[in-house]
Amino acid sequence: MVFTGIADKGKCVGKTQDGQVVFAEGAAPGDVADVLVRPKKGFLEGRIQQIHTYAPDRTEPFCRHFEICGGCRWQHITYDAQLKHKQSVVENALTRIGKVAVEEFLPIVPAEKSTYYRNKLEFTFSDRRYLSDAEMQEGLSKDEPALGFYRPGTFDRVINIDHCWLQDEPTNALRNAIREIGLQQGLPFYDHKSQQGFLRQIVIRVTTLGQTMLIVSFGQKDPKRIAAFLDEVLARFPQITTTGYCISAKLNNSIQDLDILTYQGKGYIEEQLGHVGFRIGFKSFFQTNTRQAVRLYSVAASFAGLTGSENVYDLYTGLGSIALFVAGHCRQVVGIEEVAPAIEDARENARLNSIDNAVFYAGDVKDILTEDFARQHGKPDVLITDPPRAGMDARVVEMLLKLAPPRIVYVSCNPATQARDLNLLSEQYRVLKVQPVDMFPHTSHIESVALLELI
Ligand SMILES: C[S@@+](CC[C@H](N)C(=O)[O-])C[C@H]1O[C@@H](n2cnc3c(N)ncnc32)[C@H](O)[C@@H]1O
Repeated sequence: MVFTGIADKGKCVGKTQDGQVVFAEGAAPGDVADVLVRPKKGFLEGRIQQIHTYAPDRTEPFCRHFEICGGCRWQHITYDAQLKHKQSVVENALTRIGKVAVEEFLPIVPAEKSTYYRNKLEFTFSDRRYLSDAEMQEGLSKDEPALGFYRPGTFDRVINIDHCWLQDEPTNALRNAIREIGLQQGLPFYDHKSQQGFLRQIVIRVTTLGQTMLIVSFGQKDPKRIAAFLDEVLARFPQITTTGYCISAKLNNSIQDLDILTYQGKGYIEEQLGHVGFRIGFKSFFQTNTRQAVRLYSVAASFAGLTGSENVYDLYTGLGSIALFVAGHCRQVVGIEEVAPAIEDARENARLNSIDNAVFYAGDVKDILTEDFARQHGKPDVLITDPPRAGMDARVVEMLLKLAPPRIVYVSCNPATQARDLNLLSEQYRVLKVQPVDMFPHTSHIESVALLELI
């Protein structure tokens, strides 16, 4: 069969000779291949057996873990072609599927760096490593402990990562040394079947200012062993800015609801987004691609067209990053976000940057943003919205139509829900332009910013 395009979630789409539509992982548009077709819930899934003609946009994946790691699924497609596909995914979602009349699509903003662009990664320990077919043929043993990423679709199989192309150093050196120290000190790596073990997970964050945060999640409270382990890590990596740890006896790996204790440093690292400085604590949410976040926010700010006199609302503000980014160019900015600690960070970051025209509210946008709220804070002249993948709640869209701000800047990480929401808003708004931005090279993720004007 011939593969012709990229579909939802980044799978490649093609048609069999008898016209059936098939979705396949690992294919590239233009490939002609033999495919094993299996019916799944509501669609046909293809597994490539043999490729007869390689797509012109194919390229050799550069990561040795590509075959089994789900992190960068588009490495087999050239970066230029990835950008082309992302552009057409946004255009298709909005115009063909969403039936939104967009007056202008601007060409996608490529990533400044297509490797080592993430500022945060999590790695999991396992007492047994997952092996690819090639690794099995090399004679490697599954009984070796691992520190790396979960095999996609599993919760108990961990791929031992030697080198990951997603995050700058010291990440690779640090992760590999942590594995080695764990083995040298005879510490049990987590057993995902029995849910026992001492070493569970690490989180590494780096900033463009050269700072590093390490968080280690231990399965048991054992102060002596914890200190011996962390002291050895810090002796080898004195450049670590701050280290935290937690004890987790939970079934899941999330550390968001656990106490994270500061072992070394101040408990936060610092980052700069354009002209705004941020303190990032152990639990703070932060855009994962710092350099591209500056580009994304610059697009949002330029679409907002601020002159200094506007009242701006920033919905789904996170730790206030867009609000603080534009605060210097408007009269007032009002941020709303449901995660209360993120709002505390936003207020703290406003203080740090001596920004006194930004106010932040914690709560669900659909409950906080009411006509009363708008009377209290003044009607918005410009409303920026950056909702999660699910898009805006229908009640929020209704409230926007009632408040009728002259301009809306809609930042989205999911063109499908952006299309749905723009379609609803288009009864009162024209969509002047849309600018896709690539935040996550080698993945199907895509961000797009739309500018709406009240009719
Ligand atoms: C895509 S992020 C945008 C964050 C921020 N604008 C930034 O660039 O860092 C979406 C944010 O919406 C928040 N959120 C999700 N659902 C929400 C809701 N119903 N009400 C308020 N905030 C919500 C999430 O916690 C998250 O911080």
